[in-house]
Amino acid sequence: MSQSVYDREGIFHNKQVQKAVETKGIDELVALGFGTIYGLGLSTHTFDFVDVPGEFVRRLIDVRGKKILEIGCGIGVDAEYFAKAGAKQVKAVDLSESCLEVAKKRLKPYKNTVLLLSPFEELKLPQDETFDLIFARGALHHLKLDISMQKIRDHLKSGGKAVLIEPSSDNPFINLYRKLTPTKRTEDEAPLSNKVIRDLSRYGLTVSVYPFILIGLPIVLLMRGLRACYNKRVPSSIVLLLKFLFKLSEYIDKALFFIPFMKQWAWIKVIILAKK
Ligand SMILES: C[S@@+](CC[C@H](N)C(=O)[O-])C[C@H]1O[C@@H](n2cnc3c(N)ncnc32)[C@H](O)[C@@H]1O
Repeated sequence: MSQSVYDREGIFHNKQVQKAVETKGIDELVALGFGTIYGLGLSTHTFDFVDVPGEFVRRLIDVRGKKILEIGCGIGVDAEYFAKAGAKQVKAVDLSESCLEVAKKRLKPYKNTVLLLSPFEELKLPQDETFDLIFARGALHHLKLDISMQKIRDHLKSGGKAVLIEPSSDNPFINLYRKLTPTKRTEDEAPLSNKVIRDLSRYGLTVSVYPFILIGLPIVLLMRGLRACYNKRVPSSIVLLLKFLFKLSEYIDKALFFIPFMKQWAWIKVIILAKK
């Protein structure tokens, strides 16, 4: 029998997390912070400082008292942040059982969280259920775009926002890296182009896009390489140097993003969709 896209996605993400559980143990995975096994692909707290897009969202959106839906929650890092930061309720959906197993342990202390195992496209929500915030990090490009966007629009409260953190498909160097490392991603994922992002307005939502990480990208790749070389125990002096270089790259990126052409090359985009 042929596999569906949901089967392939589930198998891939189950495997990734099972491997991490085998090597680290579930408790270490539960303790990981931002920029973890997904997020920016750096699986220790050591490099949390690269999570500039996440930090931007955390500063921008006050989640206190909000009803939140997270799509593709993975091991539950962002769901935990929302729950801790005072959200009224966080519903988090993912199609990978292994991801949700870790997320369940992580979210156990938070009574305001609900985990749902399902492809988002097939998630059965009460028709009239709406959310103040619908959030997805690194997930939308794994989903069927049209079905997902209609669902996001329908379940967003009037005045609510969908916040999506997504990798770009417009940077030729990143695309080359993707081609050279096919095992690091699923065969069905399709990062969004700037044109596709702009066209999201056809769902009746106002689209704003914020670019992140351009010349910082080689530094992130260097961090990944060093982690592998040092078997994840990078000396603190090197971490400090990388932190400094990354901070410097942030300032240079900010200046470069004043040039409109450069924005499309950013590795990560924060897409904010507002419903009137
Ligand atoms: C790149 S990971 C990101 C996970 C998490 N948001 C993070 O940043 O760590 C993509 C996640 O989307 C989930 N996923 C893929 N397709 C999905 C679908 N159709 N419905 C719900 N979740 C899906 C995967 O299981 C995986 O956990």
